[in-house]
Amino acid sequence: MPYPYVLLSAAVSLDGYLDDTGPERLLLSSPADFDRVDEVRASVDAILVGAGTIRADNPRLLVNSPARRAARVAAGEPEYPLKVTVSGSGDLDPDAKFWHTGGEKIVYTTDKGAEQARVAGLAADLVPLGPDLDWRRVLEHLHDVRGVRRLMVEGGGTIHTQLLQEGLADELQLVLAPLFVGDPDAPRLFGPGAYQPGRLRLTETRRIEDVVLMRYEPTAPGTGPLATAADHHWLALACDLAAQCPPSRTAFSVGAVIVAADGTELARGHSREGDDPVVHAEEAALAKLDPADPRLASATVYSSLEPCAHRASRPKPCARLILDAGVRRVVTAWREPDTFVAGADGSGLLAGRGVEVVVLEEYEERAKAPNRHLA
Ligand SMILES: NC(=O)c1ccc[n+]([C@@H]2O[C@H](COP(=O)([O-])OP(=O)(O)OC[C@H]3O[C@@H](n4cnc5c(N)ncnc54)[C@H](OP(=O)(O)O)[C@@H]3O)[C@@H](O)[C@H]2O)c1
Repeated sequence: MPYPYVLLSAAVSLDGYLDDTGPERLLLSSPADFDRVDEVRASVDAILVGAGTIRADNPRLLVNSPARRAARVAAGEPEYPLKVTVSGSGDLDPDAKFWHTGGEKIVYTTDKGAEQARVAGLAADLVPLGPDLDWRRVLEHLHDVRGVRRLMVEGGGTIHTQLLQEGLADELQLVLAPLFVGDPDAPRLFGPGAYQPGRLRLTETRRIEDVVLMRYEPTAPGTGPLATAADHHWLALACDLAAQCPPSRTAFSVGAVIVAADGTELARGHSREGDDPVVHAEEAALAKLDPADPRLASATVYSSLEPCAHRASRPKPCARLILDAGVRRVVTAWREPDTFVAGADGSGLLAGRGVEVVVLEEYEERAKAPNRHLA
């Protein structure tokens, strides 16, 4: 199921706090950074905060610049992004500014929370999701029903922690403010729990007056049938690699990346790489690794086209090479059509040997793009 692109946005003190314990919201960003946040808000379809942030800060969550709002309208978008909140309890103040400013609002809640929220008479669309709130269902609903493609999440810490731990955050935009809070009762950005192992990818640093913006992407592959945001990033890279293949009329153009469980890229490859006119992408990537590399057993192979099950040019098809390497998880975008081999089913071969095969069909068109001439 496709989800929106999820961008987490937060500002923290040097000692890692989101706020102090005083009644007023602690201003961590600088004026120029608030303007940057306004620009990001103007670029998304929806902005989400947790019920805790509505209760603590009473935010309006608007696009403040009239020029940015006008540009949205000129582009055929609503003047303001959809405002979204999540609440298990449904304990939300109907007089909060959230409900009375900006454009449309939506509340994801539990069945019990919906009863409570209905009594309060909130000026919002209420979506009960059963006894518990499941983030994947929230994202699916936003994508499929509300047409949200980019979602900005502006906290608080509980929400950021859950989205990151569940592998659903595509990007973290973190601003570090030059001040200390020093109060152990103040809310922290991230709580305890199981995060991705290894290191995130730092994609940008920017000085904005006296604060620093840092942008990170998660890197660790998922571990089962559910795709994480990092799975999406790696598969997109495999599709980009496919576009680098020397063209051929007799073989597909495919890209592949092998990634360790901690998010370290182990190897990448593409079809007909280097001087080898018949090498396949997965084969080229695997050939760069020591077959005894212990990281292979928990690695994920990303391939724009499913690994081949039959092959004329070499003794072993890529599905067999992957099995021999001990890899247990494959993420792919496109099932092999009958263009060269009838009934190829590399995914079936792998799954039959216990390999988890995840097909992300939303990348199929990107995987096909460098192969259009074969149609
Ligand atoms: N510096 C910054 O950039 C920044 C940004 C935003 C917020 N903040 C600060 O962060 C603090 C608030 O953070 P917070 O962690 O207390 O609150 P929060 O993350 O905004 O919201 C937490 C609430 O969301 C609901 N919720 C979250 N996950 C849920 C789930 N899986 N199922 C059901 N409901 C769920 C619950 O609402 P119910 O209790 O209603 O069930 C929960 O209490 C404030 O001090 C605010 O100033 C700072």
